[in-house]
Amino acid sequence: LGKSNTKFEIERPLICVQGLGFVGTAMAVAVASAKDSQGNPLYNVVGVDLPNPVGQKKIDSINSGVLPLETVDQKLIDAFNTAHTQGNFLATSDTSFYKLAKVVLVDIHLDVDFSKEEPSIAFSGFKGAIKTLGENILPECLIVVETTVPPGTCEKVVAPSLKAEFEQRGIESEPLVAHSYERVMPGADYFASIVNFWRVFAGVSEAAGNACETFLSTVINVDEYPLSRLHSTTASEMGKVMENSYRATNIAFIEEWARFAETVGVDLFQVINAIRKRPTHSNMRQPGFGVGGYCLTKDPLFAKLSAKEIFGLEGMDFPFCSSAVATNNVMPLVTLQKIKDHFDGDISGKKMLMLGVSYRQDVGDTRYSPSEIFVRAARDKGAEIVCHDPLIDYWEELQTDVHNEELPSVDSFDAVVFTVPHREYLELDLAQWLGDSAAIIIDANCVLSDEARQQIKDLNKTVISIGRGI
Ligand SMILES: NC(=O)c1ccc[n+]([C@@H]2O[C@H](COP(=O)([O-])OP(=O)(O)OC[C@H]3O[C@@H](n4cnc5c(N)ncnc54)[C@H](O)[C@@H]3O)[C@@H](O)[C@H]2O)c1
Repeated sequence: LGKSNTKFEIERPLICVQGLGFVGTAMAVAVASAKDSQGNPLYNVVGVDLPNPVGQKKIDSINSGVLPLETVDQKLIDAFNTAHTQGNFLATSDTSFYKLAKVVLVDIHLDVDFSKEEPSIAFSGFKGAIKTLGENILPECLIVVETTVPPGTCEKVVAPSLKAEFEQRGIESEPLVAHSYERVMPGADYFASIVNFWRVFAGVSEAAGNACETFLSTVINVDEYPLSRLHSTTASEMGKVMENSYRATNIAFIEEWARFAETVGVDLFQVINAIRKRPTHSNMRQPGFGVGGYCLTKDPLFAKLSAKEIFGLEGMDFPFCSSAVATNNVMPLVTLQKIKDHFDGDISGKKMLMLGVSYRQDVGDTRYSPSEIFVRAARDKGAEIVCHDPLIDYWEELQTDVHNEELPSVDSFDAVVFTVPHREYLELDLAQWLGDSAAIIIDANCVLSDEARQQIKDLNKTVISIGRGI
């Protein structure tokens, strides 16, 4: 295989994973962990990323037996180590591996371009990736798009592009294209959220749907988590976008109630916990610091962009989705405003310790983190921010070093802001750590228990909590 020296000791069907990010790497490990009834690995897996410094770093890391992402999930780490030891998971930037693949899982990113006044789909990288597949794959290779895409993408972009490449190569058969979206949750149950979780899928054709069903059934625990087959890939794509839009909207909906509760002396967490007892309302979200990560910040816009750019429809504006994204984007500024109010409107020269840089608890991912919005705005107002996060040592987006081991002493700070409920913060002996410090404490994300907050109040210190008016 030309450029690459990688080679498998035992021949098995080859599954390629295009894109070794948070989804692709974990999915590749899940596929490499799939076993036959005798407990032998079913597949050889090749993860393919781009030949740029970031891609190459992930490739080298995988091939040297180091998982290229920070995780607290021991199951994912163990499964990766097993795959590495048994030698059925390799990584490369050599696209000629696609020529041998039985299945290619597409796990690359697809962004929304926010650089102009009207957001648009940043399709060029994705289309280029699909073209590469069309140039290489066998006619009978199944393509499973796991990337979150605007509804209509598989039918109107992926399948025609593969078909055009097939025609160039003199291949007459229809490409096999399916969509099956990822519900993976990086965090404590990272690996289980792939293999022990319900999956939705559909094929562009009956044959592609059947092939996708057969493949997924070998990787996912379908006995306990049966697959849901939908009638079209557009329906499956819509499922993912709608699922994430629902969650983003649910979170945004809480915002106006949080402000009301804080103002009139109500603990909204108590209220929501009481409401959640009602089964029909059990997944109501709660007040927080903000919404980050790669998905909820962009996916709600895919419906509107699909209607306009893929289906050419006018007047489908999805106001709830747009409003949810806008509301969630400014949420971290609410915490900043509360701190400003405490310091009579002026935070210049104030020194703050921010506990939590990543977008989510127990996840080492800083993409679109609400902490970024907070830090940029606070620095603009002249505040000095020191950052701590147990899972991050360097914050790429802000090019800032992050304390990631022991918590710094609190003595020199005017404010301590808890932004992410990482395990380390939940287990902190707060009273001891705070000692005689005069810093105010801001619990922006329900990090502190009722007892911990009471303890701080008993020490005559100020605690400000997002979503609590008491
Ligand atoms: N992160 C999550 O929790 C999550 C959960 C569910 C779904 N998703 C969706 O899954 C998709 C992937 O997300 P992610 O978080 O893994 O993204 P990511 O940015 O971490 O990873 C994408 C990877 O694809 C690589 N890539 C880009 N173009 C390529 C090409 N032509 N060939 C090979 N590799 C290429 C990039 O270099 C990168 O390593 C997105 O659509 C996302 O919305 C993400």
